[in-house]
Amino acid sequence: MPWAVRWLRHGGDLRWALHPETWLVLRRELDSFPQPPRLLELGAGLGGILAAARGASVTAVDDRSHDLDRVRAAARELPIELVLAPLRSTSRGLGYSFGTVPSRDYELIFVDGPSVGREGLLTEDGLTLLERATVIVVDDAVRPEEHALAADVAARLGRSVVYEGPAAVIRRRDEAARRPRPPTPRA
Ligand SMILES: C[S@@+](CC[C@H](N)C(=O)[O-])C[C@H]1O[C@@H](n2cnc3c(N)ncnc32)[C@H](O)[C@@H]1O
Repeated sequence: MPWAVRWLRHGGDLRWALHPETWLVLRRELDSFPQPPRLLELGAGLGGILAAARGASVTAVDDRSHDLDRVRAAARELPIELVLAPLRSTSRGLGYSFGTVPSRDYELIFVDGPSVGREGLLTEDGLTLLERATVIVVDDAVRPEEHALAADVAARLGRSVVYEGPAAVIRRRDEAARRPRPPTPRA
């Protein structure tokens, strides 16, 4: 059974899922690493499941345990680490408590939560997490808030941002020459 169907059967709702075009961008970025990368998904859901099914080691973060339960049930044996990061007040509004996120180098970070707004990423601990990533993909960048957030993140990290439909892609400058690896027949 396709992973998206499995996720829907466990209560996933496509209105909350990553945009289909963002998945195409995320998939391309996943495939551009010589080895399947470590992915941090902020806002757990279908994107993390699809990335894990494609070989990535996924850490998926959410502020609500029942949203993590849905991913756990749908993902089954896929390599997804689920992390509860309750919301806390920051100087930029509500944001995840990044202290619960395992500290390691995530090569790819997918920003798709929390649903109350993503400005908390612009705090010191948010930026500390982001700066270690090779590539950051932000969903919903057609919305003014996420469009501006991606631009702010890129400016704070000294990177440039490319907008591709609903996605914003922020790469480390030294990554411009990285060659995508050839497509594989994985789902
Ligand atoms: C934009 S969504 C995250 C989407 C996720 N990255 C994905 O690709 O599916 C933001 C939030 O919606 C929550 N959410 C609430 N109700 C949901 C539902 N019925 N189905 C899926 N996600 C839901 C998720 O847990 C997540 O924290």
